[in-house]
Amino acid sequence: MKTYIVGNWKMNLTVGESSIYLQKLLKRIRPAKGIEVAVSPSLIAIQPLRMQLDKNNSKVKLVAQNFYHRDYGAFTGEVSVSQLRGLVNYAIVGHSERRYVFGETNKDLKQKVAAAIRNGITPILCIGETENEKNFGETADVLRDQLLGGLSEIDAEDVKKVVIAYEPVWAISSNKGARLAAPDEIAESIKLIRNELKETYGKETADETPVLYGGSVNPNNAGAYLTIPGVNGLLIGGSSLVSDHFIDIIELAKRLRA
Ligand code: 13P
Repeated sequence: MKTYIVGNWKMNLTVGESSIYLQKLLKRIRPAKGIEVAVSPSLIAIQPLRMQLDKNNSKVKLVAQNFYHRDYGAFTGEVSVSQLRGLVNYAIVGHSERRYVFGETNKDLKQKVAAAIRNGITPILCIGETENEKNFGETADVLRDQLLGGLSEIDAEDVKKVVIAYEPVWAISSNKGARLAAPDEIAESIKLIRNELKETYGKETADETPVLYGGSVNPNNAGAYLTIPGVNGLLIGGSSLVSDHFIDIIELAKRLRA
């Protein structure tokens, strides 16, 4: 299984800044076997970055942060995943900011996962409990609900085509009072996720579905998080905005695989 290092830039960086960042990344990183490097810029930067990448033989993949589940039609202001075909390789679905700031529910998200699969774009389905849910002992229920809810509209054989990202909401750096997740806490949730996949879709799917971790990852803790059993990579927010930090984490991932 590959190791995924994915930078989620959220609503940061202008088109020009995104392009300079990518230029630096392309110059500094060498393609490495088994390492998938991807960045998720703002939607308006996707097309220019795609053109920049094509000229440079893409060792960096592009990820959409969001999209609408219908392929086309009268949906003013929306962008469909079918319009993103050929531009991105991945699309994030159900990031906690989409769930809690924009009110997206499992009903919306299962349609997005299905739309991405239908259009040949790999969905990165984010799941994770809030601090309150964790304190009330509801983590397992929340993870099951978000995982199986998000996957419920696709065929069982397509589940392996989805990347799961475990992002505990309480560990995301931009949230008030965020704290670093201990590797043990993450390991426990990753186990729950893989068990749930195994019970519902079988062992092969549970073993072959990539599961990433995200939440306050930085160059100092990335090594500890990447070596948690069952973790296949990282989804990085704040730290990915500093290209040197993102590159440090990529280098670290390469060393760990070597
Ligand atoms: P931080 O790395 O800033 O905590 O963000 C994580 C995240 O939300 C990535 O999608």
